[in-house]
Amino acid sequence: MFAKRQDSATRVDTPPAMDAAEAARIAFEHDLPLSKHHFVEGEHPVVRIEHLNKTFDGVTTVLRDVNLNVWNGEIVVVLGPSGSGKSTMLRCINLLETPTAGHILIDDDEITGKSAREVARMRRDVGMVFQSFNLFPHLTAKENVMIGQTKVLKKGKDEAEAEAIKQLTAVGLADRADYKPPQLSGGQQQRVAIARAVAMHPKVLLFDEPTSALDPELVRDVLGVMRDLALHGDMTMIVVTHEMGFARDVGDRAVFMEGGVVVEQGLPEEVFDNPRHQRTRQFLGSIG
Ligand SMILES: Nc1ncnc2c1ncn2[C@@H]1O[C@H](COP(=O)(O)OP(=O)(O)OP(=O)(O)O)[C@@H](O)[C@H]1O
Ligand SMILES: [Mg+2]
Repeated sequence: MFAKRQDSATRVDTPPAMDAAEAARIAFEHDLPLSKHHFVEGEHPVVRIEHLNKTFDGVTTVLRDVNLNVWNGEIVVVLGPSGSGKSTMLRCINLLETPTAGHILIDDDEITGKSAREVARMRRDVGMVFQSFNLFPHLTAKENVMIGQTKVLKKGKDEAEAEAIKQLTAVGLADRADYKPPQLSGGQQQRVAIARAVAMHPKVLLFDEPTSALDPELVRDVLGVMRDLALHGDMTMIVVTHEMGFARDVGDRAVFMEGGVVVEQGLPEEVFDNPRHQRTRQFLGSIG
């Protein structure tokens, strides 16, 4: 009964998810001036977040009516103070957290409100690189990059191995393929984690502060790999980061969050050099 009361206290009524074509049209008009993305006629967003709300324990509201579209090949950088809900938003996109209300669609497919089996299938489309790498310590770098391919995508060993070598080479670690995580530096481990995520060829790749656990001299290599991926690959990326140089150079769009709300979004140079909101100015001043 207590739980029921909590539910009704925190329930947020959201309208049903929009029709795909209508949503794409509205998103296009909204995002056109806010992103360097090269829009294609009739294109639909890869990730569509509508009226996303997340409340923990029925009391702590962490995300409030978040609306965000991410387009194919777009690099969206997300900034904001600690506790603003950045990680929670990413964790909702790959369903590590269950949204309290609202809709998340990947390629016009609603992922919210699905069964565990459907969630497992849909999660393949969304890759994630964590702050703390999350590699299997007893497996080699190559095995770490292979395991999702063989277990989740059901690829054969040879095919998975060839893809692992290709992706480890792309992150500059071909010569470390047989090393295990404890024999690698933090920066090398994070590059393995990036190779692992890319090897799954997700529709969108999420990064949650991928360099903030690293010693400063290792940050550059990891940012270099991410920069390469963003500029030379066709990966769609949402990157939560405090690396302002990277965000400005590589981002197609910057999103500033505070208090669980998207306060403002726009072209990175606009958001950094000419923020519209006082809170964005304060935040940028405090870190800059
Ligand atoms: N499982 C949970 N249970 C209760 N509260 C949570 C939970 N996870 C996150 N929160 C709360 O949600 C708020 C947002 O957390 P979140 O981790 O999304 O912030 P963040 O913007 O990623 O911060 P940081 O920059 O420190 O990583 C915080 O106040 C946090 O305490
Ligand atoms: Mg976080």
